[in-house]
Amino acid sequence: MLRPLLASALTTAMMIAGIVASPATHAAADASRPQGAALLHQREPMSFGVFYYPEQWPREQWQRDFNGMAKLGFSFTHMAEFSWTYLEPQEGQFDFKWLDAAIEMASKAGLRVILGTPTGAPPAWMGEHYPEVYRVDEHGQRHEHGIRAEVSLSNAKYQAFVTRLVTAMAEHYGHDPRVWGWQVDNEPSSFADFSDSARQAFQRWLRARYGTIDAMNTAWGGSFWSTRYTSFEQVLLPNATLAAEDKLSPNALLDLARFQADTTASFLDAQAAIIKKYAAPAQWVTTNYTNVSTATDPRRSHGMDFTTFTLYPVAGANILGGDSYAIGKPANLMEAAAYFRPITGTFGVMELQPGQVNWGEINPQPMPGAVSMWMWHAFASGASLISTYRYRHPLRGSEMYHEGIMGTDGVTLSRTGHEFVDAVHEIGALEPKLDARARLPSTMAARYTGYLWSQDVFWDLEIQPQTTLWNSWAYRNGYTLAVKSTGAPMDFVGEQDDFSRYPFLIAPAYQMVSKALAEKWRRYVEQGGHLILTSRTGQKNEAAQFHEGPWAQPILDLIGDDVEGFDMLPASANGTVSSGGSTHAWHRWADILSPRPGTEVLATYSDHYYAGKAAVTTRRLGKGSVTMIGVSTDDGVLERDIVRSVYQRAGIAIEDLPTGVFHEWRGGYSFLVNYNPQPYQATLPQGAQVVHGRLPLAPAQVLVWKDTAP
Ligand code: GAL
Repeated sequence: MLRPLLASALTTAMMIAGIVASPATHAAADASRPQGAALLHQREPMSFGVFYYPEQWPREQWQRDFNGMAKLGFSFTHMAEFSWTYLEPQEGQFDFKWLDAAIEMASKAGLRVILGTPTGAPPAWMGEHYPEVYRVDEHGQRHEHGIRAEVSLSNAKYQAFVTRLVTAMAEHYGHDPRVWGWQVDNEPSSFADFSDSARQAFQRWLRARYGTIDAMNTAWGGSFWSTRYTSFEQVLLPNATLAAEDKLSPNALLDLARFQADTTASFLDAQAAIIKKYAAPAQWVTTNYTNVSTATDPRRSHGMDFTTFTLYPVAGANILGGDSYAIGKPANLMEAAAYFRPITGTFGVMELQPGQVNWGEINPQPMPGAVSMWMWHAFASGASLISTYRYRHPLRGSEMYHEGIMGTDGVTLSRTGHEFVDAVHEIGALEPKLDARARLPSTMAARYTGYLWSQDVFWDLEIQPQTTLWNSWAYRNGYTLAVKSTGAPMDFVGEQDDFSRYPFLIAPAYQMVSKALAEKWRRYVEQGGHLILTSRTGQKNEAAQFHEGPWAQPILDLIGDDVEGFDMLPASANGTVSSGGSTHAWHRWADILSPRPGTEVLATYSDHYYAGKAAVTTRRLGKGSVTMIGVSTDDGVLERDIVRSVYQRAGIAIEDLPTGVFHEWRGGYSFLVNYNPQPYQATLPQGAQVVHGRLPLAPAQVLVWKDTAP
């Protein structure tokens, strides 16, 4: 069984290298348009760019600035995503002259242009005449002009303004060879919107989803507290801020999250459709998602040729302690690449933090090396485009104190700008040496891991955390970091995807499990896959309701346990779990497992009425294995050890990378990056030829070597 799995892991690796297109592609299905990677790679394989706002600077400086970008080694610039007030200064009157001039100057300097649609920042006249285009927040307050992205995406008037502007832009620039591609909107998000427009749109959405009001009542548990409806028109947007101790229906809240994500996706797709109607096939369309977010779901959108995301790793958080706050959140880029890459097989980093930012609670300087390391990390993870936000340090306005590539004088590189530009040249020099036909080393292919991801499941966890100690984000990060400590390549996969491409599959806290998913897992394991499930998995069905049967019913035969219940503790209580002679404190979550014959116990609870019951179990099934990690320990060390042991039990060699040290591979080269505050003394494979960096790998540094291993 491992053979086909290995072969498919290699295929996945080739997708990463841009050799074959991902089968999981969600890009627009217009056969006449080149897709994803092809669109992006039409002119060159790897592109670096920088954001510029001509409207923020005197026109006399534009040419100088574009020339400066080109001289530094950038190949594209990015404009217009907040300039609606200049593009349509008065209702229905468009002015593209200034942008024409800026594009002309950029082109003269040798730069290509990515155009943003400015739908995240409507002009003042719109709020003045049509205040209804603004969203209403959960406190009933209508938002207003002055801050960006405060609109109601469900508002028909706003949608009409968007359609008219984007049509005008697409007609004007759709055949302009200087325009490389489009970014629709900016960091699309689903803000809570309690406006009348949103309520009516929600009612339409519910009608389309459920058909009859009775079906919705059943789905939401309408037999509770007189929350039954007799028509869709009665349904209000569930507003959790109005609920104190009592809870709204979690099923209603889950539908609200789905509705909001669908609304955002349709908003993006409508813009993409307009652009594709008018634009030459060579122009592509994407958007810049805010990293891995709960507010949007890129898999719900079908109009993007590929995905990009924004990345700001240093803004005050200190996850790994010591000086790691200055290197950045360790799981940020690693997870984003794993999440976005499989969607179309191609991805880019549309905004990369250029230096200090202005919006964090604390805004420290990135450690020397960090900016460069993020770029190498993005490149190593398969990015096709890296762009930095922004060229110039603003002198006034909302983003004062936000660094750019250039300092406040507009002509001198900032410290981090220097670093960015050096990395452009270093990565640019290595890029042509990549071998597009190189195969992922068999050691890495053998540990290729799928991380089963569902936006529904994540929303559902957030809606019913059950303990304030539960943090879905940190929980996910703990498991992705554990997987990456083995040196495994990792993709986020969806339930519809082909699991057999991955020798290992992990589904942490996968609360909603349908019978079909449980069956798909069983077949995967029987055919040789190694499945890791964790706390809370299988408690609910696909409708986010409990199974009418034993707790976690659909997974019991699979994990070889009965789940007797679960517990969680106040922070002041004691809870310990022991495994192989070591003990671990836990408070967050404990699934109480009762193993069936043939199931091996790997960890046991030491206290409370379930002392002696299993916390972690594993079993062989067919040609594969299933491991159930029911406990969430305080420091996650037990879970990390268990995850690692799954590979070892399967006879697969793994690495022992410290948390935040990542091993990636691209086109015949291996890359090590270090987000850990400690240096790392790696042992390189025999015959490795180091082409960049040195050992020990200092914090915020990169090591690159040419792989000669098979
Ligand atoms: C991003 C946003 C940009 C800019 C940047 C500042 O999240 O997309 O427009 O505001 O933050 O760091």
